[in-house]
Amino acid sequence: MNTQPLKKNIIYKMTATLFAATNPSTGRMRALNVLRDLPSVADLIELCFSSTLDPEGRSYIDQMRRNGLDKSFLNWAPRVIETVSLPLSGFVWESNGRVVGNVSLIPFFKREQKIFLIANVATHPEYRRQGIARHLTTAAMQKAREKHASAIWLHVRDDNPGAIQLYRELGFVERSRRTSWYAPPGTALLDSPPSNIHVMTRPARDWNAQNKWLSRSYPAELDWYTHQSWNILKPGLFNAIYRIMADINTIQWSALQDGRLQGILACQRTGGRSDQLWAALPAHGSSEAITRLLYHCRQSISPARGLTLEYPVGTVDDAIRSAGLMAQRTLAWMEAPGVTTY
Ligand SMILES: CC(C)(COP(=O)(O)OP(=O)(O)OC[C@H]1O[C@@H](n2cnc3c(N)ncnc32)[C@H](O)[C@@H]1OP(=O)(O)O)[C@@H](O)C(=O)NCCC(=O)NCCS
Repeated sequence: MNTQPLKKNIIYKMTATLFAATNPSTGRMRALNVLRDLPSVADLIELCFSSTLDPEGRSYIDQMRRNGLDKSFLNWAPRVIETVSLPLSGFVWESNGRVVGNVSLIPFFKREQKIFLIANVATHPEYRRQGIARHLTTAAMQKAREKHASAIWLHVRDDNPGAIQLYRELGFVERSRRTSWYAPPGTALLDSPPSNIHVMTRPARDWNAQNKWLSRSYPAELDWYTHQSWNILKPGLFNAIYRIMADINTIQWSALQDGRLQGILACQRTGGRSDQLWAALPAHGSSEAITRLLYHCRQSISPARGLTLEYPVGTVDDAIRSAGLMAQRTLAWMEAPGVTTY
């Protein structure tokens, strides 16, 4: 496919945005000043994301506020902007001395390549639909390319069509849609309906299939973000020693129907509020396998712990729901070209 006209169109729109003669409203864009903007940015993010903030999001904002007041952090931060995956770089929109718009630019590393994540795109409700987010996101994309980004990514909730539209207009293309599922702690043990799917402790011989299916569920194009090493699930003495040394505790189960492997579920115990599940399912297997595996997991582990599972949107959504997990949010992962592909 010839993508040149599309690229020209995107370049035209971005250039026009950056060099527009008139500002979208009163005010101006400037680079984030990590020494003084963090508390105002934390306030803006809290206001703009109030309806969707979970405990993790709240602690992120609290951390940002604490960092903004911490002198030793502020001495250290400007020197490491390019090397740590923290929102220390970006742009703000300022109007009458007040921060009313923000975008963060967070570096990640994938082998030799640098990937930038655009995050915390927010415009104060009184200043919306004046082009502020478009200006800020365009500036962040340009900065990422100046910094030799190999790719630029962002994620956006699937129930935010306005933001998705904005990102599409700026050249982002959706690559994956993933739902975070949650089973709260304290759930009474469930009576599982009868089934011909048999669940057993995962034998080492299932690893090859599990490894292959894991790369479908947790694609390599996002591994710069998840930093997940499958050594935590791999059989063998070396990996068992690694897990002991790293204090990683996993339990794994295989589901079989008529003797054929239908899926594998791993539960990783964590020190946090909930344990992390990793599901490995074939492309065309029985979706009931995941229901059975989740039932089995919920019956086997302590009801005092919550469970979280992240999985691509698709054919097994209902099967996951049937095991009593609730969809917390679905994120669209979108990518725009970096310098190497642009
Ligand atoms: C999404 C958000 C950042 C947009 O900020 P903004 O400054 O109003 O956006 P802009 O004015 O630059 O909009 C640019 C384009 O995006 C699209 N867009 C933005 N908001 C939209 C909305 N509510 N409905 C439909 N389209 C919308 C439009 O195409 C718009 O162009 P147009 O005004 O010429 O039609 C803002 O609504 C916000 O802060 N929301 C809460 C936080 C959030 O959801 N952030 C995104 C997280 S990924």
